[in-house]
Amino acid sequence: MEFRIGVVQNRPKLLKPAANVRAALDLLDRHEADLWVLPEFFASGYNFKTKKEAASVAEKADGPLSKILQAYAAKRDCAIVAGFPEKSGAKLYNSALLATPAKTRVYRKTHVFGSEKRFFTPGDTGFWVEEVKGVKVGVMICFDWFFPESARTLALRGAQVIAHPANLVLPWAPEGMKIRSLENRVFSATADRVGVERGLGFIGQSQIVSPNGSLLTRLGHDEVRAAVATVDAWTAKDKKVHPACDLFADRRPKLYAH
Ligand code: ACM
Repeated sequence: MEFRIGVVQNRPKLLKPAANVRAALDLLDRHEADLWVLPEFFASGYNFKTKKEAASVAEKADGPLSKILQAYAAKRDCAIVAGFPEKSGAKLYNSALLATPAKTRVYRKTHVFGSEKRFFTPGDTGFWVEEVKGVKVGVMICFDWFFPESARTLALRGAQVIAHPANLVLPWAPEGMKIRSLENRVFSATADRVGVERGLGFIGQSQIVSPNGSLLTRLGHDEVRAAVATVDAWTAKDKKVHPACDLFADRRPKLYAH
């Protein structure tokens, strides 16, 4: 089954969500895709000084951003995964929305990173999978990649594509995500940002990886643009790496630590 996956690499201006949403959707306007992945905190910026500052650009999961993304998904007949700071009562979560023409669903980052720990509560949604045009899509956010359990859980739940909004500050994810794709035999789409924010630099290199662990596309360190790869999503259902070796059927969970 042919499925078009797009990643958007942007350069958001800190605390200017309206302008950043417009600029990101302008990048999508020029391409066709079935599933778009936008970066973590794509519209708010990342490097908040205080919880109050983060809260000033945070939204409820069914707030205005969800309406904008869902309307865009309906207009372009696509799904969009995009990271945003989520407000829920007194708590903030580092979240991502999956918006389709029919519904929205929120994922809250499980493994919060660095100074995020000062403002954001570790997520409680767990790793879920939703169908987009017949293809199972799961979401994890940035640092979640470092914990192989994140991608493995999504893959065991049937994800054929892992949508991975990111704001990468460490160097390892672009190469590491090749292994996450290979060991789970899934497509992965990492959407990162570029630029420097209050001295914190982001590495770009958004990419789409095949179940063989090979790059289908990778953007540069400083490029602002969207890129699309057309894939055969069915290949992510085949977990065999040898006629006699199926990576899922051959697992030995009783012998693994929890
Ligand atoms: C990260 O999780 N944004 C590094």
